[in-house]
Amino acid sequence: MKTKSFRIDRYISKELKINRRDIKLMLAQGRIVINGETIREVSSIVEEFDCVECDGEILQNKKPLYIMLNKPIGVVSATKDDLHKTVISLLEGYSVSELDSLHIVGRLDLNTSGLLLLTNDSYWSRKLMAPEEKVSKVYEVELENDLTQDYISAFAEGMYFSFEDITTQPAELKILSSKIAEVVLMEGKYHQIKRMFGRFRNPVLALNRRSIGNLSLDKSLQLGESRELTLDEVSSIFN
Ligand code: URA
Repeated sequence: MKTKSFRIDRYISKELKINRRDIKLMLAQGRIVINGETIREVSSIVEEFDCVECDGEILQNKKPLYIMLNKPIGVVSATKDDLHKTVISLLEGYSVSELDSLHIVGRLDLNTSGLLLLTNDSYWSRKLMAPEEKVSKVYEVELENDLTQDYISAFAEGMYFSFEDITTQPAELKILSSKIAEVVLMEGKYHQIKRMFGRFRNPVLALNRRSIGNLSLDKSLQLGESRELTLDEVSSIFN
């Protein structure tokens, strides 16, 4: 899997505030090691999760983390918050620097539950959120009022939101019972599902994200519990 990458001279220059011309000499002297191998070429590439050493001192040695959390209602999708408990505070067994390295991939509202992904791999998260990747997000929605067939065509056609001056991408809506729908979105605009049902003046009573791309929430995870993704899940999530 591709990650964020830098040329070694740029990387060392930025990390150690050393002139790029002097880095050529450091390389020739064999003072820079990537993943245990002495590097001499100025054009060598450092990836986000490589172990990089200079004069025996570790400059970076980050383990990639990909975590799924069953987010409960009332916990905020943020790394820091003065008012509410954050999703980060629910994660157990990680060091402070690991927790600090994490970011959220596709936030959920305070009163939305379900599948939330956290990672320190910015390439992976950017790819997951990129509109051209068309990664689906599946939600189960409980509504105050009965659904009708009109909802299906309105969601499929897209809705214009004047605030952002955008029309939503075609979304699939399935009626599961009179007041419960499954909605598949290919994007994630602000409060998108609540605003789409708002067009029908039908308040959302409960919202739960079931899956992202090919990855479904692990049913063995209770609310607030998390686990790391397998390598296969990390790569096969893309539709
Ligand atoms: N749509 C919403 O309105 N809220 C969410 O949390 C996710 C999608």
